Amino acid sequence: MPLISACSGIQSALDPAGREAADVATLFFAMLVGGVVIWAGTVGMLFYAARKRRVHSEKAAGRVILWCGAVLPTVILASLLSYAVWLMPNIRPWFGGTDGGMRRIEVTGEQFWWRVRYLEDGGQPAFETANEVRIPVGERVVFSLRSPDVIHSFWIPVLGGKMDMIPGRENRLTLLAEKPGTYRGVCAEFCGTSHALMAFTVLAMEKQAFEDWLAARRNSSGGRDAEGLASFLRHGCSACHAISGTQAQGTIGPDLTAFGERGTVGAGTRPNLEEHVASFIRDPGKIKPEARMPHFSMLPDAEIERIAAYLKGLR
Ligand code: CUA
Repeated sequence: MPLISACSGIQSALDPAGREAADVATLFFAMLVGGVVIWAGTVGMLFYAARKRRVHSEKAAGRVILWCGAVLPTVILASLLSYAVWLMPNIRPWFGGTDGGMRRIEVTGEQFWWRVRYLEDGGQPAFETANEVRIPVGERVVFSLRSPDVIHSFWIPVLGGKMDMIPGRENRLTLLAEKPGTYRGVCAEFCGTSHALMAFTVLAMEKQAFEDWLAARRNSSGGRDAEGLASFLRHGCSACHAISGTQAQGTIGPDLTAFGERGTVGAGTRPNLEEHVASFIRDPGKIKPEARMPHFSMLPDAEIERIAAYLKGLR
């Protein structure tokens, strides 16, 4: 499961692919060096003190304590503080009141998945998707972050710092991806039993590919598998889920338009394979404890498999 291995670059703040994350990583390494120098000074001083009685004069000892114990740490800490304050405007999540015509993406933290809405210039939603965020490379985008019930925290370590999603308010975060690639975002605030099971995929795409994807998503259809769609509708999936171009217009659960393109099922919990989609439909709580979706284990296996195959085929 490559998406779940935490040590690889797709989720490492120290392997940045965005400007904000690069600044944070530089600050981290500067602090690391500063910390090591202060530590070395302290250790040196202790060694000196241990030898002092036998070898050195009191005056020399005072000088060592002054330089290693006071001047060195003060200078280093002051420089690190100045550097961090100087960096602040760059890593600040939001530049004042206007979004300057930046592309806006609204992300809502749900228990336990991510609702993603692409907004038109006027702020109207163009379309909705879930558990996957696609952004263009080289263009600063504004994330408008919300939550209907509990606090979540939106974090794409490779691109920048985290930002809480707080019920009743909108928080904003701007990020600039500099390298195309597929990254992993996570929830960084405990939000319930399956807090650790809500991840999302971030695709930083070349500008033209991104525009093509936007255009395709604006005209998504419900696929050609009429029988699969009929099963989906017959068993009430559409009460919670929407699929563009069909009668399914539910808004409680994740939008499933073009579901087959997503890398995972259950917000990063399983690779998007038909068998995992089927298990999720059969009993979501087994894969994701306390997920809001009810189980459908009463359906015949053939029906579950038909729906899973239908969803997997949606492009
Ligand atoms: Cu959502 Cu933790």
